[in-house]
Amino acid sequence: MKNFKVTTLAGLAAALFCITAIEGYTQTAQPDMSQYILTPKPADTPRINGARVFGVRPGSEFMFTVAATGKRPMKFEAEGLPKGLKLDPETGRITGRIKKEGEYTVRLTATNALGSNERDLRIVVGDRIALTPPMGWNSWNCWGPNVSQDKVVEAARAMVESGLINHGWTYINIDDAWQGKRGRNGAIQPNMKFPDMKAMADDIHALGLKLGIYSTPWIGTYAGHIGCYAETPEGTYGWIEAGKHDENYFISDPEGKINRYTNYHHGEYSFVEADVRQWAEWGVDYLKYDWYPNTCYHAKEMHDALRKIDRDIVLSLSADSPYADAPVWARYANCWRTTGDIRDTWASIRHIWSLQDKWAAFKRPGNWPDADMLVVGQVGGAWGEPLHYTKLTADEQYTHISLWSLLASPMLIGCDMAQMDDFTLSLLTNDEVNDINQDPLGLQARPIWENGDLVIYVKHLEDGSMAVGLFNRGEQETDMEVTLQQLGLRGEQTVRDLWRQKDLTKTSDKFAAKVAPHGVVLVKFYPGNSRER
Ligand code: GLA
Repeated sequence: MKNFKVTTLAGLAAALFCITAIEGYTQTAQPDMSQYILTPKPADTPRINGARVFGVRPGSEFMFTVAATGKRPMKFEAEGLPKGLKLDPETGRITGRIKKEGEYTVRLTATNALGSNERDLRIVVGDRIALTPPMGWNSWNCWGPNVSQDKVVEAARAMVESGLINHGWTYINIDDAWQGKRGRNGAIQPNMKFPDMKAMADDIHALGLKLGIYSTPWIGTYAGHIGCYAETPEGTYGWIEAGKHDENYFISDPEGKINRYTNYHHGEYSFVEADVRQWAEWGVDYLKYDWYPNTCYHAKEMHDALRKIDRDIVLSLSADSPYADAPVWARYANCWRTTGDIRDTWASIRHIWSLQDKWAAFKRPGNWPDADMLVVGQVGGAWGEPLHYTKLTADEQYTHISLWSLLASPMLIGCDMAQMDDFTLSLLTNDEVNDINQDPLGLQARPIWENGDLVIYVKHLEDGSMAVGLFNRGEQETDMEVTLQQLGLRGEQTVRDLWRQKDLTKTSDKFAAKVAPHGVVLVKFYPGNSRER
């Protein structure tokens, strides 16, 4: 690397699929979308939300916040907690460590002045973690390379203050551009925008949330920061020697040209174990590991390093993982990206959608093929645009969130959390829709009928009921219907509108609805078929 010059990225970023800094952006006006809100306001009485099953490895730190809506103060109880765990009755946080493998059903209760609500939480102590799709926030789509500790902490506070935490939203994930240079322990240290990673992790945990971080097995990341590999045993790089480690920098090749291989290749020296130890010390709970094409060796190497520490860190691979190696990703990772980067356009949603069905065979608790981050609210920093309100229409946003729920994709909010409007919040706080995403069976919805732009997706749920999405990808409002025969359902069913949280009708025959252009009608058929003879 000695012959290589360090060169600024400016002007060349686009060619490298990378992002230039967007200093001094101006915010675009937020449209009033309140007329499109369908989600009812949460009741004042308690309702327990979020995951119904949670996986932890024996001996690992256990952290689970019982998500519940309803008036505060609220008191939490948990009956049947395994040895080693305790619940804070004021905050609903369950912490501790469980030594023995096993399965425990815990009866949770949330009580306030107006009533109480109960729900079972299944705790599975074993090899597998992330037993439901991760729900959280990621910094990239709004802040891009301009992420900072202040912005991350602000997002975490907004997760609590907006009430999102009460609907099961958990992870606060820093994407690319937190990295500085290697410290004396060999591990990557943060750049000057992140003065104290440990304090930040502690603050995020104290809020009842979890922290995610980002790296790559290349020598440099997509945004021009150091990765888990290096060209030299000391882990130095041209741009570190030049004092540019805090910036988004790229190395030019001996001819002075920048191409994607200047940063985007594996060096000879791996710092994976040192980095993982450092992340565990800070208290990291989630890793996005990003390179292309994903290589089996590096996925396994990271998996093995993560298994050597006594902390459960969700491993999420990015980006556009090769389909042929799906069994490998399923073996070593919890999540992996099924596509390139999402944008806030209908064309991008359509494209990502067209790539999803083939991954269904690999979706199951602990394995979540990932359709990429959510493009609702104020987004744009990732692709070099000023932060702006998503270009998706209200119907397209309903399609986006309904589809990600049906697919059981990870749900990572990509917008500026501090300025979420009521409509965006309503899309993310519909517990009946989120329950489809978090269903413990962990199945991906499949299309059961398709005709041109019209398609019907079905997802079986653990309680025997079925979630059904009637999607209209066309340009005209269209009548659609689904018969109980198509669904294999017997006997009378209630059809429930999940966005409105309202029973629509009872039927023993079929359900018909008008579906808006680019829109969806998302319903649930219950009770499903009787399991008795
Ligand atoms: C890739 C990923 C994005 C983001 C950027 C960061 O493009 O696909 O999600 O992490 O890198 O540089």
